[in-house]
Amino acid sequence: MRISDRVVRFVLKPVVFLASLSPAAWLVWAGLTGNLSANPLSDLTNETGVWTLRFLCATLAITPLRRLTGWNPLIKFRRMAGLFAFFYGTLHFLTYVIADRFAGLDFPNGIVAWTTVRNLAKSVGEDIYKRPYITVGFTAWTTMVPLTATSTAGMIRRLGGKQWNQLHRLVYATGCLGVLHYWWLVKADIRRPLTYGAVVAALLAFRLIKRTGVGIRGAVSRLAWRRTTVE
Ligand code: HEM
Repeated sequence: MRISDRVVRFVLKPVVFLASLSPAAWLVWAGLTGNLSANPLSDLTNETGVWTLRFLCATLAITPLRRLTGWNPLIKFRRMAGLFAFFYGTLHFLTYVIADRFAGLDFPNGIVAWTTVRNLAKSVGEDIYKRPYITVGFTAWTTMVPLTATSTAGMIRRLGGKQWNQLHRLVYATGCLGVLHYWWLVKADIRRPLTYGAVVAALLAFRLIKRTGVGIRGAVSRLAWRRTTVE
């Protein structure tokens, strides 16, 4: 199948962009029209968390899918998927800050005051320190910051391809930490975190097999070449 660059750029990319934005649009609509549950802030935290993980899986899936299908334009969607993972991750973090931390504060000098900012930062910091699944979630989000900051063509040029690739392997840690965070926070039914864990493990295993496969193939061909030159 041959799809021109123009179709990818002007049709497929805008469609994928709008589709990626639709969960956020749905959440805003559901929030404003009262279509969330009795605990809307918890719904928002959970939904944005799951969408972060889905976009992380999509980002990690692009390289294996490209190799398996041979459809190279897929790579043009990787940056978008990664940026959407960061977008939903940041929404998730912000809903946690508001729903979980801000809601529990006292406001001795009114809401709009420096003490509010200070108390909020203290409360978030203490919670990240105290609750292990929050520590892991926050670490996962932090790993996405340098990935997002270096996602532009200018940054790729400035860092150089090799260094950029090395830095962007951090996304493997993001995926693992995201799954660990989810696993840690569920109380009883671990089927969903287990499923995401299996997906992330399969996507990382693909890379490992690819690398060791190439390594083994390279070693075999070097050995064969040595033999023929010695003989
Ligand atoms: C890559 C980053 C992250 C990913 C992939 C992620 C993923 C998730 C997922 C999948 C859920 C569960 C949704 C459900 O039960 O349906 C969740 C819940 C939650 N996450 Fe995250 N998260 C991330 C970062 C963070 C950060 C930075 C924080 C806060 C510092 C955080 C705090 C929470 C909280 C409070 C919940 C709700 C727990 C509950 O059910 O009470 N997460 N997250």
